[in-house]
Amino acid sequence: MFTFNVFKNRSFAIDLGNNNTLVSDQSGLLVSQPSYIAFDAGNHAIKAVGDQAFSMFEKSHRELKAVKPLKGGVIADYDSAASMLHELVTLANTGKTLLNGYDHLISGVPYYTTEVERRALRDALGQFNAHRTHLLYEPLAAALGMGLNIREPDGKMVIDIGGGITEIVVISLSGIATFQSSKVAGDTFDAEIQDYFRRQYNMAIGLKTAEQVKISVGAVQEELVAAPEPMMVKGKDLMEGIPVNRKIDHREVSFILDKSLRAIELSIIQTLETCPPELAADIFQNGIHVTGGNALLRGLKERFEKIIKLPVHIDPQALVSVSRGLAQTLSNPRQYKSVLMD
Ligand SMILES: Nc1ncnc2c1ncn2[C@@H]1O[C@H](COP(=O)(O)OP(=O)(O)OP(=O)(O)O)[C@@H](O)[C@H]1O
Ligand SMILES: [Mg+2]
Repeated sequence: MFTFNVFKNRSFAIDLGNNNTLVSDQSGLLVSQPSYIAFDAGNHAIKAVGDQAFSMFEKSHRELKAVKPLKGGVIADYDSAASMLHELVTLANTGKTLLNGYDHLISGVPYYTTEVERRALRDALGQFNAHRTHLLYEPLAAALGMGLNIREPDGKMVIDIGGGITEIVVISLSGIATFQSSKVAGDTFDAEIQDYFRRQYNMAIGLKTAEQVKISVGAVQEELVAAPEPMMVKGKDLMEGIPVNRKIDHREVSFILDKSLRAIELSIIQTLETCPPELAADIFQNGIHVTGGNALLRGLKERFEKIIKLPVHIDPQALVSVSRGLAQTLSNPRQYKSVLMD
C-alpha cells in the first residue's frame, strides 16, 4: 500500500539559543548548529550558516560578514536571525514540499523576555507558515527534557546556564512560581577570560579562543576529581603586536570565573528566599537541577553543593534538554496545551 507522505503535514520544534540552534521533530534531533550566519558584505547573499559560519567568525575580511544574531538569549539582529532560522530549518529537511505545509511549530523562549522580544521571535517563525505556532518557556522545556514531572505540585528548581542567559526558576503545577534571570552566562564567562588575558598578560585573545579555554580547562573550583591537562593559548602581545603563547590551567580559570559564579549563586539564594515555604521545602528535599551548556563546567556540582547546601543534579544532556522537552510536547500538543503559548 502507498503512503502519501508527501501530503502529510509535518511538525517541528526549534530551540533558538544564544549560541546553539537545535531543530527537532517527534523522532528526535535533526540539526544542532552554532547560532551564526555569514553574509557577503556587498550583496548580502548568505555565504554560510552554523558550524561553517562560526568557523569564519572573527576571521572574516571586508567582503564577508559573520554574524551572531542573538545576544543575551534573545534576537538582537532580526534579519540575520530570520535568515539563519530559514537556513537551519532547510538543513533539517523537515519535509515541507509545495504540496504540504507545517502543522505544529513549537519554539522555546526564555522565561524573562519582553513582549517586544517575543514578538520578534514570533515574526521570525511566521516565515514557516505553520498551521499552529506555539512558544514554550525554555526552563519548562528543559525540565521536561530532563524527565521531570512538571505537573505535580512538588516544587522543582531548574537552573539553565546557557550562552546568553541564566534562568533560575521554581516550577510547580506546570507553571513558574518564582524566578530570577540574569545575563551572567556563558558569553560573560568567555569575555571574563578574554579580559583577564588582556589585563594579566597584556595578551589579546579571540572570543573563540576564550571559549575553548573555558571548555578545555574550565573549572569553578581548584580541587577536581579529574583535573584536565593545562592548555597552551595562542594570542597577540598587546604592546609589540607579535604572536605569543601562554599556558593556562584549570586553577587559573576557576579564579577568573569566580566573580560570575558568585553572581549566579546569589541569584539562586535569592530565588530560594522568595520561594513560597511549601515549595522551598520540596526543593530542600529534592535538590536543584542544573542544565544549559555551562552546567558542564568542571566542579560545578561540588561548588554549588558547598555554597547552597542542597543536593545538586547536573543534567548529563545539558546541551539538548530544552530541545528534547520541546520535541516531547510536539508528540502530543493537546496534552501540553496549558504550557504552550499561542
Ligand atoms: N563542556 C563545556 N564546558 C563548559 N561550557 C560549555 C561546554 N560545552 C558548551 N559550553 C558552553 O555552553 C554554552 C552553550 O550552551 P547552550 O547551547 O545551552 O546555550 P544556548 O541555548 O545557545 O544559550 P541561551 O540558552 O542563553 O539562549 C556556551 O556558552 C558554551 O561555551
Ligand atoms: Mg538555551
